[in-house]
Amino acid sequence: MTKPQILVARKIFPATIAYLEQHFEVESNQDDASWTKAELIARLQGKVGAFTTGSERIDAELLAACPGLRICANMAVGYNNFDVDAMSAAGVLATNAPDVLTETTADFGFALLMATARRVCESEHFLRAGLWKKWSYDMFAGAEVHGSTLGIIGMGRIGQGIAKRGAFGFGMNVVYHNRSQLDAATEAECKARFVSKEELLKTADHVVLVVPYSAASHHTIGAAELALMQPTATLVNIARGGIVDDAALAAALREGRIAAAGLDVFEGEPKVHPDLLTVPNVVLTPHIASATVATRTAMARLAADNLVGFLIKNKALTPINA
Ligand code: DGY
Repeated sequence: MTKPQILVARKIFPATIAYLEQHFEVESNQDDASWTKAELIARLQGKVGAFTTGSERIDAELLAACPGLRICANMAVGYNNFDVDAMSAAGVLATNAPDVLTETTADFGFALLMATARRVCESEHFLRAGLWKKWSYDMFAGAEVHGSTLGIIGMGRIGQGIAKRGAFGFGMNVVYHNRSQLDAATEAECKARFVSKEELLKTADHVVLVVPYSAASHHTIGAAELALMQPTATLVNIARGGIVDDAALAAALREGRIAAAGLDVFEGEPKVHPDLLTVPNVVLTPHIASATVATRTAMARLAADNLVGFLIKNKALTPINA
C-alpha cells in the first residue's frame, strides 16, 4: 500500500524523520534551505500533511494553491504563523506543540530576567574587551531580583511556570495581568495576584511578557506603556515579536526611561531593529527559549505524532481548530 505523502518544511532531528518515514513518504528540507512561499507551495503539491515551524506562513493563498493539504502540524506552541480561520475554511487541521516546552521556556524566561537585571551580558562584554582595570563600588550594579515585584503579562502555562519560580525560588511578590483572572486555586498555586495592566506596569520591578501574539496583543507594550514603568524596571519578552514596539523600547532604553530589557523575540525576526543593536542595556537572544535538546526533541515528536495521529489514526493529539 502506498504511504501518504508529507512535507517537513525545515531541518529537524534525523530520528523524527525516521519516525515519520515509518508512516509516510517524506520530503524534507534537511539542508535547511530558505524556501520561498512559491517553493513551499510547489513542494506541498501532492502532500496531505505538513510539518511546520513558526517560520512557515500558512494562509489563504497557500491553502488555495494546495487543495490536497489536510493538516499542518506546528513544532511550536505559538501558531501566529497560521491563519487559523483560513485553515478552518479550507478544512485543514492546525495543530501546535503545547506543554512539552512549558518548564524549559519558563527556565529561559528566568535566565533572561536574571541576565537583564544583573547585567550579565553587558559586564561580560566589558571584561572581554579588556576594560576591567579595577574594582569599583558601582561597577555593573544592577537591580535586585529576590524579594522584588515580578509582573507577568499573560498567565498561561508558561506564565504560571515563571510565577512559581519567582514566588517560591526567589521570594518575589508576583502580580499578573491576563485576559481573564485565574481561579483562586491556581492563583494560590502560583502565589500570584491579579492586577490591572496599568498597576502592573507602575509597580513591577521586572515585567515578563508571555502573551500569545494576535492583532489584539500587537504592541501590548508601546511608548505609553513604557512611560508607566519605573526607571529602575526591566522588561523581558519571551512571547513573540510584535507584542513590543521595538523602536519605542530602544528609545526608552537609550533615554534611561527603563533600566534594561531582555528580548528573545523581535518584530520581523530574524531581523532585529537596528536601534536595539546599539543600546548596551539590552540582552538579545535568537528565539531560543525552548531550545534544549530534550525539549526540542519532544516538540518535534509531538508535531510528528499529530501527523501520525490525524492521518493514520484519525485523531490528532493537540488540535487547534478541530
Ligand atoms: C514556540 O513554541 O512558540 C516557540 O516560540 C518556538 O520555539
